Amino acid sequence: MKKILLFGDPGIDDAVAIIYALLNPEIELVGLVTGYGNVDETQAAENASYLLQLGGRPDIPVIRGAKGPFSGELVQYYPEIHGPEGLGPIRPPDYFTTNVQDFSTVFEIIDRYKSELTIVDVGRSTSLATAFILAGADFMNQVNAMYIMGGAFNHPGNVTASAEANFYGDPIASDLVLEKGKNITILPLNVTNYALVSPQVVNYITSLNSNPFSSLFKPIMDYYINAYNKLIPGLQAAAVHDVLTLFSIVSPESFQFVSRRARVDSSELSRGTSRADFRPKPEVEPLETLDRIALFFNYNAFIQNFVTVMSGRLQ
Ligand code: BDR
Ligand code: CA
Repeated sequence: MKKILLFGDPGIDDAVAIIYALLNPEIELVGLVTGYGNVDETQAAENASYLLQLGGRPDIPVIRGAKGPFSGELVQYYPEIHGPEGLGPIRPPDYFTTNVQDFSTVFEIIDRYKSELTIVDVGRSTSLATAFILAGADFMNQVNAMYIMGGAFNHPGNVTASAEANFYGDPIASDLVLEKGKNITILPLNVTNYALVSPQVVNYITSLNSNPFSSLFKPIMDYYINAYNKLIPGLQAAAVHDVLTLFSIVSPESFQFVSRRARVDSSELSRGTSRADFRPKPEVEPLETLDRIALFFNYNAFIQNFVTVMSGRLQ
C-alpha cells in the first residue's frame, strides 16, 4: 500500500483524485495539502474536508497550503470549469472544515514516514516549493518519490499556447521543485489530456455504485464534461489529469517514461512553459537533475482501473 501525501486544489479533477485515493485499496492517504488554484485556498480546504467527511475519514489531516504564487500577483480561478465552489453544481456546507492543520504538519508527516512516503502534487507548485524552502532539499528528499501533474511537452498548453495551468500558476515554484527534488516523475498534459472519462463511463460507474460518493460523482463529472465540451467543441468527455497521476504510482507498468532534465520558464513571453531536451542524444545533465517524464500510457488499463476503483467500496 502506497502512503501518499497529496497536494492539490480541489477543483473537480482534484476532488475525483481524492475520491479515487480514498477508494483505492493500493493507496493510503496520509494527508491533504490544499492550496489556491482552481479555487481559493479556503474553499479548497473546505472541499477537501467535505470529501473526507463524506468518506468517513475526517481523521486524515487537511493542511493549509499557499494562498498565492511567489510572485505575489493576484490569482485567477476557474469557476467556468470547476464551478463557483469548485465542485461543479455541488455546494459544500459553508465553512465546513475538519481536522485542519497548519503547514508544519507537512514536516511531521515526512518525518514520520520518510522513505515510505510518496508526495504527489496535482495543484500549483507553491506549497510544495515552500516546503523545500522551509525545510531544505535534504529533508524533503528523504521521501521515496515525488509525482507532479504539470507541464506540456511537445504539446499545446491549456492556459496559453504552450503553458499548462499548474506550471503557469507559479512557474518559479514549479522550476524550484523540479530542480531541487529527487526521484521526480512528471505527468504532463501530453499524457493526462488523454485520460478521458465519457458520460457512458460515468453512467456505468453510477449504476454500480454503492459508496458514499455515489450522489456526488455524477453531478460533478457531468458538470466537468460539459465544461470540457465548451472548451473543445465536439469532445464528449473530460480529462482526469490528477487521477492519472495517482494511477501512474500504482500501475507504472502502464506507462512509458523518458528521463530528462525538465525546467519551467518564468519569462513573460513563455511563462509556465515546460522544456526538456528530447533529442535521442540530449545534452548530458547531472544525474540528480533528471526527471522521469511520462510520454505514453495504456488507456484501457487506466479506464478499467478507474471503473473498478470508483465503483468499489471504501476500505
Ligand atoms: C491541471 O490544472 C487543474 O485545473 C487540474 O486540476 C489539473 O491539476 C491541469 O492543467
Ligand atoms: Ca489540480
